[in-house]
Amino acid sequence: MKLNHIYCGDSVQILKEFPSDSIDCCVTSPPYYALRDYGVYNQIGAENTLGEYIDKLLCVFSEVHRVLKKDGTFWLNMGDTYSYSSRDSNAHKTRSLLQQTNIGSLSMPNHESIDLKTSNLKPKDLMGIPWTIALDLRNKLGFYLRQDIIWAKPNPMPESVKDRCTKSHEYIFLLSKSKKYYFNADAIKEKADEKSIIRYNSRFNTGAKEMSGAGRLKQGSNTAGFKKFTGYKNKRDVWIVATRGYKGAHFATFPTALIKPCILAGCREGGIVLDPFFGSGTVGVVAKELNRNYIGIDINGDYCNLAENRINGGNKNA
Ligand SMILES: C[S@@+](CC[C@H](N)C(=O)[O-])C[C@H]1O[C@@H](n2cnc3c(N)ncnc32)[C@H](O)[C@@H]1O
Repeated sequence: MKLNHIYCGDSVQILKEFPSDSIDCCVTSPPYYALRDYGVYNQIGAENTLGEYIDKLLCVFSEVHRVLKKDGTFWLNMGDTYSYSSRDSNAHKTRSLLQQTNIGSLSMPNHESIDLKTSNLKPKDLMGIPWTIALDLRNKLGFYLRQDIIWAKPNPMPESVKDRCTKSHEYIFLLSKSKKYYFNADAIKEKADEKSIIRYNSRFNTGAKEMSGAGRLKQGSNTAGFKKFTGYKNKRDVWIVATRGYKGAHFATFPTALIKPCILAGCREGGIVLDPFFGSGTVGVVAKELNRNYIGIDINGDYCNLAENRINGGNKNA
């Protein structure tokens, strides 16, 4: 297993060669189902049914579970999609556009003709793929499902829908291999707003006597249990981060600000961060910047080269 290296190939096959209990943290975003064509045979996301897609992802994540250290964490980013209908069809539009413009000759499955027959989905249904996978990771693979972090996007993809709200969030599931695991909450704590600091500290100090209203402490209240507020609070589970494309990548890349907290909290300095769907290599860029080692895997040779140049070619847009 080589550190700070991009393996070009199928992630399950490559992960099988890695030793067990060797990786500190995995951060990844798998391909969507039936939305993008990465132009390579054996790519994940081009299966004929949703069930096959989920099974393939579980094969990858079962290997992720094996290679993670006992105190390791897995941060899985996934967005949901709608089953296709002619009225509510951003997925369809995107798919058509990709088929016109690009890469590879694989034709993507059509939800209406194939998948809807083999599932209970109706046209326009939200597929619920992120939660289906999160529950499988917990129930079938033995991961501890620790948190559903909401990635709220202030600049979502515009949608022309009139019968629901515009989709502007994705999930980051935090999973661990064991009940106790490495998590550096201090490394990602957030600055509290001024008002909260003043309110908390005035309760803690003798000023409590002068306070009025609901926050007032009675005279003689025991303040021994109060800690003086440092001005920082535990990071919350809604992360507002703008999407940001990367030149040359025909797919959704991670904004660096989204995965910094995952790596800071989930991996000690000098540790190893894995991304089995490396794409443009954002995990490598951030790991390098934060003095962690990375291992990237991607099935598309062009993306492996793109990522290599981005990480080691000094690209200022990284
Ligand atoms: C959503 S993109 C990842 C983007 C990445 N997070 C970034 O910031 O650039 C998903 C990637 O999975 C890769 N992929 C698809 N099937 C794969 C497989 N079987 N093994 C490894 N990589 C695969 C695609 O080539 C694509 O680059």
